[in-house]
Amino acid sequence: MKLDYDVLIVGSGIAGLNTALHLPDDMDVLVISKDYAWECNTFFAQGGVAVASNKEDIPLHVKDTLEAGAGHCDKKAVEVLCSEGPNAIQDLMNAGFDFDRDTNGNLLYTKEAAHSKNRILHAGGDATGRELHLFLMESLKFPILYNTQVVDLLIDDGKCYGVEVFHDNKIFNIYAKKIVIASGGVGSLYEFHTNSRTISADMHGICCEHGIELRDMEMMQFHPTVFVKSSAVRKQLLSEALRGEGAKIVDEDGKRFLFDYDKRGELSPRNVVSEALYEYKRETRKEIYLDVSDFKEKHFKKRFPTIYFNMQNLGFDVPSQRIPISPAFHYAIGGVKTDLNGKIKSVEDIYFVGEIASVGVHGANRLASNSLLEGLVFSKRVADELLKSFTCRAHLSFKCKSLELIKSGDKKLKNELRILMWDSAGIVRYEKKLQKSLNRVEEMLKLPTGKLIRLRLLTSRVIIKSALKRKVSLGAHYIKGERENEKVIDTTTYISK
Ligand code: SIN
Repeated sequence: MKLDYDVLIVGSGIAGLNTALHLPDDMDVLVISKDYAWECNTFFAQGGVAVASNKEDIPLHVKDTLEAGAGHCDKKAVEVLCSEGPNAIQDLMNAGFDFDRDTNGNLLYTKEAAHSKNRILHAGGDATGRELHLFLMESLKFPILYNTQVVDLLIDDGKCYGVEVFHDNKIFNIYAKKIVIASGGVGSLYEFHTNSRTISADMHGICCEHGIELRDMEMMQFHPTVFVKSSAVRKQLLSEALRGEGAKIVDEDGKRFLFDYDKRGELSPRNVVSEALYEYKRETRKEIYLDVSDFKEKHFKKRFPTIYFNMQNLGFDVPSQRIPISPAFHYAIGGVKTDLNGKIKSVEDIYFVGEIASVGVHGANRLASNSLLEGLVFSKRVADELLKSFTCRAHLSFKCKSLELIKSGDKKLKNELRILMWDSAGIVRYEKKLQKSLNRVEEMLKLPTGKLIRLRLLTSRVIIKSALKRKVSLGAHYIKGERENEKVIDTTTYISK
């Protein structure tokens, strides 16, 4: 097997595949996928791609993104996202991809929370991620190595030379002149989440081991409308586009209580809705539902086919029957701090893009459907940047180090960690609980575990420490101190009851 490439791309979601799409055919490129290629968050994305619908809409898209981000965005990065977005979409369409259109051939734009106008493109109804992923996979002109887990980065003297991987029961090194990391977020750290099973924070942990800077790690986004009462690892997302197109959030008596929290009701920013759901349920102990009964069945089935079939399979007669909902972990806003071209300060020849990266576009709360756009816009920038500085250089040889990836007892710790993270670094944080969790994570880190659980623990530690550091609530980080005399409650039991 060939083990030396020009470019190595880790991750087969939108950011990784679109980077590949922008590299010349004659380059020697390998894409690494941890599982099947479709086990990535892109594949499961429902809502769509937010993009300015015309030139005049660009400043509005910037404004909405900055406002949702609670003043914590990097304005320059947001301007890049919103102004380069339309071209990124045009590139995609020129390459043959198409979004949903009306009967006259006009693009259909839907609305999602905190967008001041309709600017979300979608494909296959609510199958935008799946359609995009399929298209990018079909366009891929380079080989892809499946079932390959990256277990370390090969870094020496401030330069990255490749990755150490586990594949086919063997650990070995793959070298490249440029390495692009598009490995996704941290979903599996949490008990309830909407992410692919492969999204487990190992790359963040590897970055911790190499002193690569992570930022805004307390900014974890919880999606408010998720059906969590199933045994599936990835919980069923109920797209925000449903609310954008008229679905309501009600309690068991049919009351639309969100207006008591924010005048925008169902269209309030995601963090506001998640927190309101949490607080309302805590205060009233009432069940909360997504009511989609205003949709006509024929239209619902066509516009939201994935949700329709999945919920019918779960025994819900949608759209007439309302669906019990809870917030669940959805997206890692924080990540590896990069510049506008995916570069980091401490190591050369490595680029981070997509959910693993924190380029600053999401601030403290990601605006709905901005992440697929981020994947498209910034992966092109990464491809352009790495081509600009591409040089043929010999690689150093590294010894394989990661011998024991999993030890007996790790699974128990992993499950404990998922509950601990959900319960303490979840929708609402309490200082006392966070501190207790940090102590427990430190204890776990001293145990003789395998490497993979250690990487999860390192990432969890950063998330908890960042949450403890930010004393005042901001965006997705909602913290309550002891001073407020808040009763510390067990969110796990009440959310899943
Ligand atoms: C959704 O469809 O509600 C998810 C969109 C997103 O996470 O941006």
